[in-house]
Parts: sequence; C-alpha cells; structure tokens
Amino acid sequence: MYNSKVIGVGKYLPEQVVTNFDLMKMMETSDEWIKERTGIVERRFAGEGETTSLMGAEASKEALKMAGLQPEDVDFIIFATLSPDYYFPGSGCPMQTHLGLTGIGALDIRNQCSGFVYGMATADQFIKTGMYQTILLVGAEVHSRGLNLSTEGRDVAVIFGDGAGAVVLTATEDENKGVLTSHLHADGRHVEKLWLENPGSASNPYVSKEMIDNGSVYPYMNGRYVFKHAVTKFPEVIHEALQKTGYSTDDVDMVIPHQANERITEAVQQRLGLPREKVFRNIHKYGNTTAASIPIALSECVEDGRIKQDSLVCLASFGSGFTWASSLIRW
Ligand code: ACO
Repeated sequence: MYNSKVIGVGKYLPEQVVTNFDLMKMMETSDEWIKERTGIVERRFAGEGETTSLMGAEASKEALKMAGLQPEDVDFIIFATLSPDYYFPGSGCPMQTHLGLTGIGALDIRNQCSGFVYGMATADQFIKTGMYQTILLVGAEVHSRGLNLSTEGRDVAVIFGDGAGAVVLTATEDENKGVLTSHLHADGRHVEKLWLENPGSASNPYVSKEMIDNGSVYPYMNGRYVFKHAVTKFPEVIHEALQKTGYSTDDVDMVIPHQANERITEAVQQRLGLPREKVFRNIHKYGNTTAASIPIALSECVEDGRIKQDSLVCLASFGSGFTWASSLIRW
C-alpha cells in the first residue's frame, strides 16, 4: 500500500474583481451587510471565454510546474465542480484537452463544497492500491453566470465567486507522509435546503420558461439552516480525523476549512479552541468558490510558507447534499 503525497499546488483566479460596491450597482445591498454577514469584501468573476475547465487547466499548469512534471506525467484526472462547462460531459474531459492530453481517465466529482475533499479521498484510494501513481485533482467553479444578480437573488448571489485550484498527488512508500486519513459523509434529507433545482431530470419537462420565471434555475439556500448544520459538522468531522490518527487539535499546524462564510469559519475556530492563525481564511478576497476554495487556500498557504515540509494540515468541508468531509495530511 502506498501513501499519497501532494507534490504540487496551483490556483487560477480570473482577473475581474467584483467588489461589494460593484454588487450595489446591480441589487439592493450594502458593503456593510455583506461584510458583517459573510466577511466578503470582493470576489472574482470569470471573463468572456473563461470556463470552468479552462480555469482548472490554468491551475493545473501551476501545480504541475511546482511538481516539476509535464501534463503527460499525469495518470488520471479528478475534477470537482458544481458548475461544469456543460451538464454533460463533465469538465474533466474538456480540461484534459486544454492540457493537451488524450486517453487518460477523467472523473468528475459532484459533491459541491465537499467536492475537493471527496476528490482527495478518491485520489488517495487509487494511489494506495497502486492503480495510478500520479493524479491531478482539480476544484474549479464559474458561479457568476448562474447567479441571480438582482435584489431577488441577493441572499445567495453576494456569497459566491469564481476560481480554480489544483494539486498533484503522487505515490510514496513513506507511510508517515501524505494523506493520513479521510472521512466522507452525506445526509440527503437536507437536499432542498441548499440546491439548484432546475433544470433537472426530476422535472418534466426538464426545462421550461416557468422555471426561469419562478427562479428555480438559480441556487436556493436556507442560510440559517445551513449555518446551524455547518458549525456542528465541521468540528465533528475534524475531530473524527484526529481521533482516527491519534492526534489532537494542538498537533495541527493548519486547518483549511472550505471558505463558506467568515462567520461559519469563526464559529468553527472557536468550537475547536484553536488560535485564529491556525484556521485559514481568504474568503474576504474571493468569496465562496465551493469546490475550488480548499485548493486555492492550499496554494496560498504553500506560497507564503504557512504550510511547509512536515506540516500537519487538516482539510474540512461542508456543503450542499448535505455533504461534509475531512482529510488529514502530513505535508
Ligand atoms: N443585502 C442586504 N440585505 C439582504 C441581503 C443582501 N445581500 N440578503 C438578504 N438580505 C436581507 C433579507 O431580505 C432580510 O431582510 P428582512 O429582515 O427585511 O426580511 C435580512 O437581510 C436578514 O436576512 P436573513 O436571511 O435573516 O439574514 P441572516 O442574518 O440570517 O444572514 C446569511 C443571512 C448571511 C446567509 C446567514 O444566514 C448565514 O451566514 N448563513 C450561512 C450560510 C452560508 O453562508 N452559506 C455559504 C454557502 S453554502 C456553503 O458553502 C456550505
């Protein structure tokens, strides 16, 4: 059995910065409301021609460069997104083409904000068994084109942003390095509390003018309900990873929670009893980028030295489904 070690990280953020003040030109909202409720100051919106797969490819190039690898060295692609270029095929296929690859497997993961951590666990299992040696794992989102950017959609629209992150994982025989444990959960009773109902095959017809008129083609979130569950599940799944490996919160160098909302992160930090500097946040700059938020955060932490050789890093997520997950990694 092998362990899966992260040997490269990368990110891609579209150039177009959209501040809270810019949103105030599109809907009735205020910088104060958004900052106080979510911690978000600005986010990025994809420009013309920037797709989820294209941004994933750009993040991948950076991760491959850090790993000292060429795209041809990758054995398998895992792509996590809730905003694929197309309903089908998944974005892993077009991204493969952007990287100039053909033939290797490309698996899309549909686990929303938990997509990247689900992807990490999946990559780890393929590597552990020896089926693949080097895997490119990507989280990328273009939310901006699917939001209701009017006053009607403001409770959801102000939270989300676009971006991409990627990591390269490779097999190591060092059992103390890499992904030490992963924990994946879901509870489908909460599907309708955070979802994009239409278009979808549960509806007949699949798509209609009525769906556009009644707003069900835009994401819906019961904010308070999500908050209540998120602040419980994040600490629970982090403790699960620590218990499994015999570590305590004191041993962890960095917790990287999915950047859902500053208030959620703050509550999680307090419940874990950790100092602020050990629970990463960058939501003020990028908003909530769902599956991309953890790899973007990882990339920033490695860039500025907050994560280095031997750091013990805990990734944790919570999102639509509901799904929640953690992964403990020795860097
Ligand atoms: N700007 C100004 N006013 C707004 C906005 C906005 N963007 N959105 C809603 N409001 C108004 C509402 O209409 C409401 O007005 P009313 O009192 O006249 O009816 C008022 O603000 C308060 O609305 P609430 O929904 O009660 O606001 P709340 O204090 O609950 O904050 C929030 C909403 C920020 C969504 C909160 O519930 C929360 O933090 N939830 C966590 C959910 C979350 O952040 N999820 C992240 C995405 S999911 C994920 O990644 C897991």
